[in-house]
Amino acid sequence: MKARIVLLPGDGIGPEVVSQARAVLDRVAAVGGHQFIFEEALMGGCAIDATGSPLPDDTLAICENADAILLGAVGGPKWSDPAAPVRPEQGLLKIRQHFGLFANLRPVKVFPALAPHAPLRADLLDNVDILFVRELTGGIYFGERQEQGNGSTAYDTMQYSTAEVERVAHVAFQAARQRQRRLASVDKANVLASMRLWRRTVSAVAEDYPDVTVEHVLVDACAMHLMRRPASFDVVLAGNMFGDILSDEAATLAGSLGMLPSASLGQDRRGLYEPIHGSAPDIAGKGLANPIGTILSAAMLLRHSLELEEEARMIEQAVSSALASGIRTADISGPGTQPASTTEMTQAILKRLPA
Ligand code: IPM
Ligand code: MN
Repeated sequence: MKARIVLLPGDGIGPEVVSQARAVLDRVAAVGGHQFIFEEALMGGCAIDATGSPLPDDTLAICENADAILLGAVGGPKWSDPAAPVRPEQGLLKIRQHFGLFANLRPVKVFPALAPHAPLRADLLDNVDILFVRELTGGIYFGERQEQGNGSTAYDTMQYSTAEVERVAHVAFQAARQRQRRLASVDKANVLASMRLWRRTVSAVAEDYPDVTVEHVLVDACAMHLMRRPASFDVVLAGNMFGDILSDEAATLAGSLGMLPSASLGQDRRGLYEPIHGSAPDIAGKGLANPIGTILSAAMLLRHSLELEEEARMIEQAVSSALASGIRTADISGPGTQPASTTEMTQAILKRLPA
């Protein structure tokens, strides 16, 4: 197949990890006889430096014609002044909104080889395999906000419509059908009106999926259950802010943020794929970054935007098998072991793909 893939390397370790994922995509293309056409564009702090905008119109135009977008990371100390009028993160929010990427999939899997590295007792981590489905273009992130009275008061608004909840709930229920058929919907219906609408709407959508078992969980209780019984979760559906917080919390289960991929999807096949880690400016350019989160994001890209399920699994298999062989980047290596570099980790994965 022929596909156009836009690379947005971004800031910090972004360029390093994106180039590793590209090497893996190049291999997949060579093996499967696919033609992937890569284009690079600016986003984040590097885009602010070059153009004044974190998401320049040129970048949007290039993405407009793409089948999929692979992003590294944006941000860094240089652009992190909260009072600055433009910030790298605004580019991320804008691209999500512009392309209507309302469903953010964040799978959290614990590779058995890494369980000893996680902060939670290893016995609690057996069989942890959670898919977070986070609503990404609504809620308090996009509600009306204002700072008033010379900064003495400020407000943000959490607002949801039934249509917004319905469409992301369908994504989550359909995913549950491909998995263990269990869905936990997260809200704060005991306090917030928007979250009562959330619960009501998810309950109504659930009627279309009688084969999926649904529980409604309050966000505070969910935060606790994720630590006490993480293996009991299958699909977790949450609004924009709660999903942001809970998915970071759950990511610690995997041992390192560097391991985890994500996909942001809308109504059509075009998606945005990115590792969930940030730009890690402290280790940028040192060859220490873990490329696995981005490589697994590339696998999600193949699955969701290009319908290359077999190739996606091939990559996931190669990552598992590389980890099982004992190779570790610094973020997942224990004390006293010599960590592998970014490129050594990628080589170990490439070695386990068809040549
Ligand atoms: C994420 C990030 C973003 C978010 C920030 C950088 C705007 O934390 O992708 O989870 O809050 O959505
Ligand atoms: Mn986040």
